[in-house]
Order: sequence, then structure tokens, then C-alpha cells
Amino acid sequence: MEALLKKGKPIRTLSGKIIANMFFEPSTRTNFSFQSAAARLGATPLAFYSDQSSAQKGEAYADTIQMMDGYADALVIRHPQPGMPSLAAEIAGHPVINAGDGGNQHPSQALIDLYTIKKLKGKIEGLNITLMGDLKHARAMRSLLHVLAMYGANVTLCSPSLLAMGPEIISRAKKEFGASIKETTRPSFARCDILYVCRVQRERFADPDEALRMSSEFRLGMDALRAAPKEMAVLHPLPKIDELPKEFDSDARAKYFEQAKNGVPVRMAILKRCVLGK
Ligand code: NCD
Repeated sequence: MEALLKKGKPIRTLSGKIIANMFFEPSTRTNFSFQSAAARLGATPLAFYSDQSSAQKGEAYADTIQMMDGYADALVIRHPQPGMPSLAAEIAGHPVINAGDGGNQHPSQALIDLYTIKKLKGKIEGLNITLMGDLKHARAMRSLLHVLAMYGANVTLCSPSLLAMGPEIISRAKKEFGASIKETTRPSFARCDILYVCRVQRERFADPDEALRMSSEFRLGMDALRAAPKEMAVLHPLPKIDELPKEFDSDARAKYFEQAKNGVPVRMAILKRCVLGK
């Protein structure tokens, strides 16, 4: 898909198809990169936002899904509640793509992350990858841990103990893929190939003050980043708030905007596979 985009010619792979982007939770990158991916493939994207729809009048989720299924050839769904895209897949006849369900999973982001790491380092297997931040609530980190384990990376999970990744997710990755996973509360970047940072997911905290306290406690400073290896690429699913210094954006190791750009070709591939079944 990236090679096709580089040619700069119109692509007609999904010409005549309609892709519904249904967002029940705010989004910038996921929504617009899925819309861009659909448009780049020659499909027409429809944008549905729950705050501007009949969901506001109390329409049942199942009715909304059934109706949109009649208007489109695939449904891309983001929802604040875990499992809602999965429920939609039971109702809809067309393919449903999970664009992030609550604190559960964000599979298309994980594919973008894998693709970005492969492009940067030429492989996944054997790389030392540190996932750092709110590992308890960040769905992007859960999905990423799964695929990194699947492809044989050595993963270090770094978070304050209150924001540690759920033990059931870690033990599943270990059991299914024999993954090497270490846990720590103190960042250390010696021999780290990829540092993947995420924000504190304030909207998923019961107590907003606790979220604020956590985000002020867990920030990386320029000194720590300067001392880190020269080849250590830094990724972030974005949006970033204050977990990385703004000054770091111009460092050659900051690869998060490149990662966000990879969202379009990867989501083109996902749409093609889902809509055409190949
Ligand atoms: C992530 C999300 O929505 O889970 N953003 C994204 O899709 N790129 C990460 C986040 O919100 O922290």
C-alpha cells in the first residue's frame, strides 16, 4: 500500500464501496487515518459521531449498527465500552473493524506499531522493546504486547505499580508465545532498541485527581533521553500530553509522527483485506 501511495496515482481497489467510521469516543488519528485510507482506496468514507447522532435521542446501539450496516460495506467502530465492536460484529452482516474499545484492545494500532518497528529496525524478533506509561488502561499497549510476544521481541514493561499491565494479559502472552517479559517501575534504557511511551489515560480513572498525580509522577526528562542509546527509536500512539518533553520532537530518535503517518497504508491494507476478503 505504501508503494502504491508513493506512485501518486489514483487507486481504485475499493471503488464504489462505502466505509462507515463510527466513533462513540473522541479520536483524531484513528478516525482520520481510516477515512484517508478509505478515500485513498477509492471508497467513500461516512463519518458517524455519536454526539451528533440519534444515539443522543436514546437510540439503541444494536439499532444504530443494524442501520449503518445497511448503508456501508464495512463498519469501523470506536467505543468507550470494551466488547462493543465485537457485539456489532454479531449484529452486522458486513465486516466490523475494532478501532479501539474502551481499555480493552486497539488492534489496528498494534499493526501500525509492528509495521513501524519493522521499517525502522528491519525485524521484530530479538529486539529489546520497553513499553512505558499507563499500562493498566492503555488499550494500545495491550494489543501491542500481544503482537510483540507473537513475533518474539524481548519486552520490558515499565510503569508505576498502580498502573501496571493486567497480570492476565502478561501471563497469556507468556503462555501462548513463550514471550520474554520483564516488569519494572524504574526506566532504564541501556540496550533498548525501541522505547514505546503512552499517556496516562485520564478518562479511564475513577478519580481524576489520582490521574493527575500519576501523570505528574511519570514523565521523561531531556536528561534521561539524552543519556539513552543513540539508536533507540521512541514511539508513541499519540496524543502525547506531557510524558515526553516537547523539545524531544526534533530529536532524530523521535519517530511518533512517522508512526502516525504509517496509519494510512496499514489501514488501507486492513480495509482491503476486510472488504474484499483477500
Ligand atoms: C490511542 C487510543 O485511542 O487508544 N490513540 C490512538 O488511537 N492513536 C492512544 C491514547 O489515546 O492514548
